[in-house]
Amino acid sequence: MTAAPPSDPVVEQARAYFEEFAADYDQAAIESGWMPNRLLEDALSLVGGVDRAADLACGTGSSLAVVRKAWPDADLVGVDVSASMLGRARVRIADARFVRADLRAFADGAHEPFDLVTVIGGFEFTDQLPELLAAVRRLVRPGGHLVFTFEPVMSGWAPQASRVETNLGSNGLELTTFRWERSEVTEGFDGWTLLDDRLVAAYLRDGLPTVYGWLHYRRPGSPAHGRPARSRSRGRTGQFPSSELIENPLLLPPELPSPEGR
Ligand SMILES: C[S@@+](CC[C@H](N)C(=O)[O-])C[C@H]1O[C@@H](n2cnc3c(N)ncnc32)[C@H](O)[C@@H]1O
Repeated sequence: MTAAPPSDPVVEQARAYFEEFAADYDQAAIESGWMPNRLLEDALSLVGGVDRAADLACGTGSSLAVVRKAWPDADLVGVDVSASMLGRARVRIADARFVRADLRAFADGAHEPFDLVTVIGGFEFTDQLPELLAAVRRLVRPGGHLVFTFEPVMSGWAPQASRVETNLGSNGLELTTFRWERSEVTEGFDGWTLLDDRLVAAYLRDGLPTVYGWLHYRRPGSPAHGRPARSRSRGRTGQFPSSELIENPLLLPPELPSPEGR
């Protein structure tokens, strides 16, 4: 299934960037220490049975491959705006269904809800994250799970102090990153159970870690499979704990500010 090309300039910029980057993406991910998909493997142990899962901003399929490994028989859908990223994902997970679409257009569409929705490294390219999250929440069935990352604003950590940043990538194209306060991202999850909440040094950019927020929520309702997820909630609803700031063994501990002040 193919959606109309994006007309939103923010979406179009990301699409053009990743079209060009696709051939190098997997190698660049290895070289930069991109680690969220290793965390995802662990996160999925908190999820009960899954018949249907959607991976948004699936890229070349790294996150979807982790989901496929956990549930070999589940119906999987990968969504991405870049045809060349999707082309690689199709080869990697041949039995999944793929949709070329803007996340917002996909989330606003009519879908039978999913047991699991993952968005790993995809939300930093939208300038409307709270609105997009509202639509993505509707994709999750009652009792289902949503696992996602976002780039937080971090005052005192120069690489991420500003809310919006545009850089030239190695392919010479501009890519704009949008950052969010944690409260902007967590609003609207009333009644959902927060199963995990941490900061992750996700990868090295220009020699410095880029820090992602990692959130895992369960929507209220009965699990479809009668197997409640194993809860690993640490009872946190507020700040990120600084003791868990660095999760990536490939990265040197940087001089990151304490998140307490944010
Ligand atoms: C950093 S990659 C992450 C891919 C994968 N989840 C991983 O962990 O390797 C980000 C992906 O988001 C996609 N993307 C960015 N903005 C998008 C949008 N508005 N709609 C759909 N996909 C988008 C890009 O095309 C790219 O494939």
